[in-house]
Amino acid sequence: MKTASVIGWPISHSRSPLIHSYWLRQHAIEGLYEKCAVEPENLSDFIHSLRTGTRVGTNVTIPHKETAVSFVDVPDDRVRRIGSLNTIWRENNKLFATSTDGAGFVANVLQHIPAFSFEGKIATILGAGGSTRALVDELLRCDVKHIHIQNRTHAKAEHIAQHFGPQVTAQHHDHLAASLELTDILINTTAVGMNSENSIPLPWQHLNPSAIVADIVYTPLITPFLQTAKAHHHAIIPGLGMLLHQAVIGFEKWFGVKPIVTQELYSLVARDIDPDYQP
Ligand code: ATR
Repeated sequence: MKTASVIGWPISHSRSPLIHSYWLRQHAIEGLYEKCAVEPENLSDFIHSLRTGTRVGTNVTIPHKETAVSFVDVPDDRVRRIGSLNTIWRENNKLFATSTDGAGFVANVLQHIPAFSFEGKIATILGAGGSTRALVDELLRCDVKHIHIQNRTHAKAEHIAQHFGPQVTAQHHDHLAASLELTDILINTTAVGMNSENSIPLPWQHLNPSAIVADIVYTPLITPFLQTAKAHHHAIIPGLGMLLHQAVIGFEKWFGVKPIVTQELYSLVARDIDPDYQP
């Protein structure tokens, strides 16, 4: 039986098994998707074990997304550009890898607002970690006009801006209000708001009234950041859909069927996060 997995350290919180097991059932595929807690010192051995046998690939999450890159044979262009991966699969005895976070983000936005186009738009991203790199890369592929990165540690935003070139700038906090006025899509990638009441303080009154607001955090389903955006009458994009959409490519690589993100799947995972969730 083909087996895939998600590896991380720790990994107990992962909802990926719920998602892939749903698709395996839906498509009547005899396969298995499991969580594996892999300590950093065992990462190389685990990835090597995917070269033979019934394990056909894996998702990779924190803290292994960057380190894993050096253990695969064929990282795709995206992985080479952003320096991290989240999906590994075997083909002709070689290990291939990609990062699906960026594509998952864009698919989530388009599922919520099908008429939205990224082309020519101005994005502001809060945070400058690994997720920001994946998003910046994907938004540039979608022909956004400009991306502002605002981060607590300015040097990290600067580093990403330099890596991606003149369409990306690191935003000084003093200029935030001015750039929010021009922003078409505002995205939170920081963990602020994860399982807490806190939200990044922002001069919301300056945000372009037609801007859409997205979070990549999905616990809680509607973060304090999104609640505030909603109170200011912005269309909001919750983060859970990104988790579901980023999973599509891995499932297709391992099990040969391209699955669909349905409302039923969304509700299944949403109820696991919040038992009171109502569609
Ligand atoms: P990921 O891979 O999910 O992007 P990460 O690499 O840990 O996660 O990045 C998290 C980002 O959230 C960082 O940019 C971090 O800011 P710093 O670069 O200053 O560390 C930001 N972040 C985390 N906690 C924060 C907080 N309390 N206030 C503001 N920013 C925060």
